[in-house]
Amino acid sequence: MKKLWPSLCCLLLPAALTAQTETTPTPQWRPVYHFTPEKNWTNDPNGLVYVNGVYHLYNQQNPFENKWGHMSWGHATSADLIHWKHLPVAIPEIMGSDTTWRFSGSAVLDKDNTSGWCKNGNCLVAIYTGHQQNPAKESQFVAYSNDGGITFTNYEKNPVIDLEKHDFRDPNVWWYAPGKYWLMTVVLPTEHKALFYRSPDLKSWTLLSEFGPQGYTGSNWECPFLIRLPVEGTKNEKKWVLVISAAGGRGVFEQYFVGDFDGRAFKNDNPKDTVLTLDYGDTYYAAIPWNNLPEGRHTYIGWMIPNPQPTFPWRGQMSIPRDLSLRQTPNGLRLIQRPAAVISNQLDELSHGRTLALKNLRIGKKEAALDKNGKIKGNAWWMKATLTVAPGADAGFKIAQEKDAAGRTIHETIVGYDAASRQVYIDRSRTGGDINKDRARQAVTLQAPARELRLEILLDRSSLEVFVNDGEAALTTYIYPVEGADQLSAFSQNGKTVIRQLKLWNLSR
Ligand code: FRU
Repeated sequence: MKKLWPSLCCLLLPAALTAQTETTPTPQWRPVYHFTPEKNWTNDPNGLVYVNGVYHLYNQQNPFENKWGHMSWGHATSADLIHWKHLPVAIPEIMGSDTTWRFSGSAVLDKDNTSGWCKNGNCLVAIYTGHQQNPAKESQFVAYSNDGGITFTNYEKNPVIDLEKHDFRDPNVWWYAPGKYWLMTVVLPTEHKALFYRSPDLKSWTLLSEFGPQGYTGSNWECPFLIRLPVEGTKNEKKWVLVISAAGGRGVFEQYFVGDFDGRAFKNDNPKDTVLTLDYGDTYYAAIPWNNLPEGRHTYIGWMIPNPQPTFPWRGQMSIPRDLSLRQTPNGLRLIQRPAAVISNQLDELSHGRTLALKNLRIGKKEAALDKNGKIKGNAWWMKATLTVAPGADAGFKIAQEKDAAGRTIHETIVGYDAASRQVYIDRSRTGGDINKDRARQAVTLQAPARELRLEILLDRSSLEVFVNDGEAALTTYIYPVEGADQLSAFSQNGKTVIRQLKLWNLSR
């Protein structure tokens, strides 16, 4: 790599970069129901767009190696967000003396041919950052596709926005119907600013306004998006949310702002220094929503930044796609994210009836093995559980667990709730594999004590996502279970717990 660019992918991965020569295959950690590239490195999701029943997922990809570099747009499609068809690289880097890499961006369906490039109603236009290396510069590019998004032609007059800046990236574009124009949100990463532009044709862009610095400014801002979301439990109330990835200083981090957008500028409802966290794990990043979804659906997906542990022949994966909404809380409106309903509705079918169900199971001092019949073997499962945890108790599940002949635990990952501190946590200190040791424990403090706690736990071999109380909080991380570490137990210390209901779908293949 000629130069380490000050973007997240490079800043956070010194250990990964040194370990990347590793070529030991790791099929045991390849997720079953999450997106991974067939081979090589991936980072951010790009160009998410839904067309005629097909979800397109473009992604930052190195077509040649299992490490960051040669950034191009990889491509995959799916009809159900679970099974992905891997397609050829859609937008490759431009080689030459000033090699330009294709950084993150979005794709839109230009059904009314506003660009003049469209030969049919299904033409896609990609809007992305051209990252020129020599001299170093970032500016915004566009490219169009008349073959269903398989290949793209770059506009001969690129770039379409050029501020002559070293850092200026990650345009997120969609049709702003009330104003009848394309709206772009893009960031000046080092200045901690989001800029809004408008365009009638995706080629000529006019600056509307700037937002920031506000919220968390301890590291570069990247991958912004603006979205209008429904408020749960109301008839028609909607609010605007601006999401910004900002990692480096305090680790992997995405923040969001709740407010209003009048077609020109975003106004934050909260004081300037309020910092709202999107995900409490150590890996969720660069998330963006699908464009052109049917009315009322707001589904997005994030990149899970690889831990130091090498995987081969792929590196990096996407989270489970998540549905977004807002919920009124005593502290104001907060973002709610749940696994996409399109996927949860398929669980019975995907598990082929391999399920585990429990009701009203009391857990005391003694750990309770939950899988006596080996129903969850494979470490690829999805659990929904409701627990009543006594005040002061610390309770939950021990997953990917391995015990020796004497019944002593060798490996495990704990997903628990500590009622005294009101924290839902993941404890990876006995997980196995090379994890980020500073973040062995990850936790979120709930706003109110949870006598009845709802946990949704998605284990997919090496990927772990925990959703709390129907989307109130999410924690996303990696674990690397050794062979045979696939037991599941429930525990409760310092007080009793009742598992009111539990259902687990085994999704291993
Ligand atoms: C975020 C990011 C983006 C950039 C891309 C480059 O992970 O740094 O800002 O466009 O990755 O691969």
